[in-house]
Amino acid sequence: MEFLNKTVLIVGGASGMGLLAGKCFAKEGANIVLADINAEGLDAAVLEVREITENVIGQVTDATKYDQVVACRDKAVETFGSIDVLIPCAGGAERRILGMQEKNFFEQPISAIEFSIHMNLMSVLYFEHAVMQQMVKQQGGVIIHMGSITGAEGSAGNIGYATAKSALMTGIVKSLAQAGAPYGIRACCIAPGPVLTRPGMAGMKTLLGYAAEPQEIVDMMLFLASERGRSVTGTTFLMDGGRNVMRNKE
Ligand SMILES: NC(=O)c1ccc[n+]([C@@H]2O[C@H](COP(=O)([O-])OP(=O)(O)OC[C@H]3O[C@@H](n4cnc5c(N)ncnc54)[C@H](O)[C@@H]3O)[C@@H](O)[C@H]2O)c1
Repeated sequence: MEFLNKTVLIVGGASGMGLLAGKCFAKEGANIVLADINAEGLDAAVLEVREITENVIGQVTDATKYDQVVACRDKAVETFGSIDVLIPCAGGAERRILGMQEKNFFEQPISAIEFSIHMNLMSVLYFEHAVMQQMVKQQGGVIIHMGSITGAEGSAGNIGYATAKSALMTGIVKSLAQAGAPYGIRACCIAPGPVLTRPGMAGMKTLLGYAAEPQEIVDMMLFLASERGRSVTGTTFLMDGGRNVMRNKE
């Protein structure tokens, strides 16, 4: 019960690692706020977490709209009184999400790059801007970003995703650590390689020869959010099975 009376707000909480994080933090006693753009998926996710705790709410939120982000922050505080951990987990590569062919950056419509920057970068900054105001009032909190190996490698066909993830992994996590430290707020980032939230990820090579299970990434979230991670701020943990140091990635 490491997170008893703590509130964890997870953006993109209707599926994948976000939903799993909701369940795992709930098992440790936390109040859970799941935010997601997918209303149907969110309803189902809230029911799953409710099997663990009564202290869960879902808030339909398009994280790329600042007014909806503020409304989500306000709902969380109104319901549970604080936001102790923020995990902006919504994200994804534009080529997959928009169903684009294997095209280079310059062959794609500019709207695709704009979409990706809004979804992967601005949505995170919006939540951080809104929630840090609450964390400053509380004099404490932890923000756990989701980076990606793509933020270290780049991607000719997912430039918005690569740009956003590299920003989260360096400029943003470092800046928020500096902005937050006087108020007891920490900022950390986990940058996974392939994770089996989708079977297709098994095809992405790693030095160790396997993709991570979602639970491994969520275990790192639990560590970073807890007192055991109290000295970690302003830094990124690559959890990529060694892909970053592979010579031949084909
Ligand atoms: N799965 C991997 O292999 C992998 C690898 C590296 C990094 N990551 C990162 O980890 C995070 C989680 O990945 P996942 O595979 O568990 O994700 P997922 O695709 O299962 O879930 C993403 C969730 O975000 C929600 N979402 C999308 N747009 C939104 C918006 N505008 N507002 C609110 N919610 C929105 C979706 O509805 C979905 O529920 C992402 O940021 C992803 O980039 C994943």
